[in-house]
Amino acid sequence: MKPFKERTRRGATAVYRHPVLVRATHWVNALCLLVLLLSGLQILNAHPAFYWGEVARFAHPIAAIDAVPRADGELRGRMTVAGATFDTTGVLGASKSGGEQLQARAFPSWLTLPGYLDLGAGRRWHFFFAWALVINGLIYAAFALASGRIRGLIWPSLGDLRGIVRDIWDHLRLRFAHGDAGYNVLQKLAYAAVIFGLLPLMLLTGLVMSPAVYARLPILGDLLGGRQSARTLHFLAASGLVSFVVVHLAMVVAAGPVNEIRSMITGWFVIRREKKTP
Ligand code: HEM
Repeated sequence: MKPFKERTRRGATAVYRHPVLVRATHWVNALCLLVLLLSGLQILNAHPAFYWGEVARFAHPIAAIDAVPRADGELRGRMTVAGATFDTTGVLGASKSGGEQLQARAFPSWLTLPGYLDLGAGRRWHFFFAWALVINGLIYAAFALASGRIRGLIWPSLGDLRGIVRDIWDHLRLRFAHGDAGYNVLQKLAYAAVIFGLLPLMLLTGLVMSPAVYARLPILGDLLGGRQSARTLHFLAASGLVSFVVVHLAMVVAAGPVNEIRSMITGWFVIRREKKTP
């Protein structure tokens, strides 16, 4: 990868860290993932339970969300994970979702797209944005590989990995390497895990759930332990992405949101402010 362009203006040195293609694909990616999450929860509302293997053993889900009536006639929302039960009334299982009364609904209206129950519409949103995400991801991957961005900026070197303990210690003290033009090792590991782990796993498990793809390539299902396993892994990959985004946003805020977000809009990332001489 070529060294970053650098400029000094009004006492600040900045590097051109994000080319236009990276910025455009980054924001399209963020939009696609938001729509995929909300429409995915709409689809999950139709059958909010997970299983392992090829077929669903309805009596033995790994995890499930449902609503049960209480003695006073009200509904109670319930989530069961590996046999342990949690009361989730108001959010999962039973929520008001715009009305006065609690209604049986796995995910509330503010977490689904569309807000009302409509499996068909949820699937249309989901599949359109899934293909948009795939095309966008391929554009980013082709550019990042050809330009050397993956090797030069994202993939951690052995030297980076040797410094991981110091980097964790710095993060715990909320000290981020502002003098550096590149990413720190934890950032590199997180981005690499998303680009090479979670996003491909989400695509692969999504394809296995498609009857047309599964019929032609049953080996994919075998590799993942069956269709129901693929569905469970799809949800886990999506949960991993949501966790990444939560931490990603927290880090953007902690590292200086103005400089960080401006860099993903204009490309320029300020690495140094010159000290004013008295
Ligand atoms: C509204 C939500 C988001 C905001 C505000 C945001 C913000 C940013 C910023 C400021 C950077 C540059 C970091 C730096 O230069 O130090 C960045 C990079 C990155 N973000 Fe996000 N992000 C968001 C959502 C996402 C999502 C949903 C993903 C994927 C799951 C994602 C994946 C990445 C990756 C992989 C990079 C590095 C890209 C590269 O340098 O080639 N971001 N983000």
